[in-house]
Amino acid sequence: MKVLITGGAGFIGSSLAKTLLKAGHDVSLIDHFSSYYHVERKVEHLEEIKKNGPISVHRFDLLDADQTLAHFKAYTYDKVIHLAALPGVQYSLKNPLDYIDQDIKVVVNVLSAAGETGIPHVLFGSSSSVYGSREEGPVKEEQASGKVKSPYAAAKAGAESFCHAYQSLYGFKLTILRFFTVYGPWGRPDMAIPLFIEKLIKGEEITVYDREQSRDFTYIDDIIQGITLAFKQDGLSEVYNLGSGSPVHLTELIQLLTQYFPSAKVREDTFRRGDVRHTWGDISKARNELGYSPEVTFEEGIRRTIEWAKSYHEL
Ligand SMILES: NC(=O)c1ccc[n+]([C@@H]2O[C@H](COP(=O)([O-])OP(=O)(O)OC[C@H]3O[C@@H](n4cnc5c(N)ncnc54)[C@H](O)[C@@H]3O)[C@@H](O)[C@H]2O)c1
Repeated sequence: MKVLITGGAGFIGSSLAKTLLKAGHDVSLIDHFSSYYHVERKVEHLEEIKKNGPISVHRFDLLDADQTLAHFKAYTYDKVIHLAALPGVQYSLKNPLDYIDQDIKVVVNVLSAAGETGIPHVLFGSSSSVYGSREEGPVKEEQASGKVKSPYAAAKAGAESFCHAYQSLYGFKLTILRFFTVYGPWGRPDMAIPLFIEKLIKGEEITVYDREQSRDFTYIDDIIQGITLAFKQDGLSEVYNLGSGSPVHLTELIQLLTQYFPSAKVREDTFRRGDVRHTWGDISKARNELGYSPEVTFEEGIRRTIEWAKSYHEL
């Protein structure tokens, strides 16, 4: 199968690329190596991908609609998975307009180019943030009301609507996958778990913003399992939660990390606006329709992540 991964030099995209190459697929990626976090890290991702087989790398900015369309006219794909985005909830509070460019306009460019060139199946990497703040859980796919908490979440919710519009206009198969806080080896360095582990390895203090929050932390391999299962989706237009289905309080995360780093210095701070207090996905639709079955427990995922981080930071 010929697969294009946009944002393929990022955390989730590079992990997906490795898995697809190992399975013998013909994989291409588009990425402009954004500076949201270290560009060198994206270069390292690319080196890791290449250990698994040959890959076509196209380095350009998908915000350029003409170049995006020209690319789709020059190459054919069976599947396009759009993961390129500007992530980060807190950053979006200070830079909201960048999210309209990177998380909405770019999506429209890709959807339009895919539609114009007859791509049969488009998959979109969305986020649990589209559910806003929900005290009760777990949330089902139809419970996203648009009442979100940050510009990042608003952009993702808007992008989902564009996905539905272009699916209707062009008739391609559409899969929207809502990822719940993804962690693991090569995890995005701005996110809590990788950030905490890096600081703890270096003996630095970590800051927890309200321990009572909980997240449906999902191990990267389980997300990749969900994405690859979605390639075989039956329906024409579907939305799936991809989470672990087992939320963890930040207190539990800190307790677990303290077992590995007994002298951890933890600073407490208050809840940050823009964040949501709890995430918890109902994954029964993905289980029943795709056969999705998350396998890595939180304890095991954290163990593997710390092991990887220690070798990455050469300790
Ligand atoms: N990591 C998570 O926990 C999580 C949770 C929910 C949703 N998501 C979504 O999953 C997707 C992948 O996330 P990630 O954690 O791998 O992020 P990432 O930042 O590691 O990867 C995104 C990649 O997209 C590229 N990119 C961004 N804008 C681009 C553009 N205009 N043109 C070309 N390339 C561009 C970046 O250079 C980067 O390599 C994103 O859409 C993100 O919003 C991630």
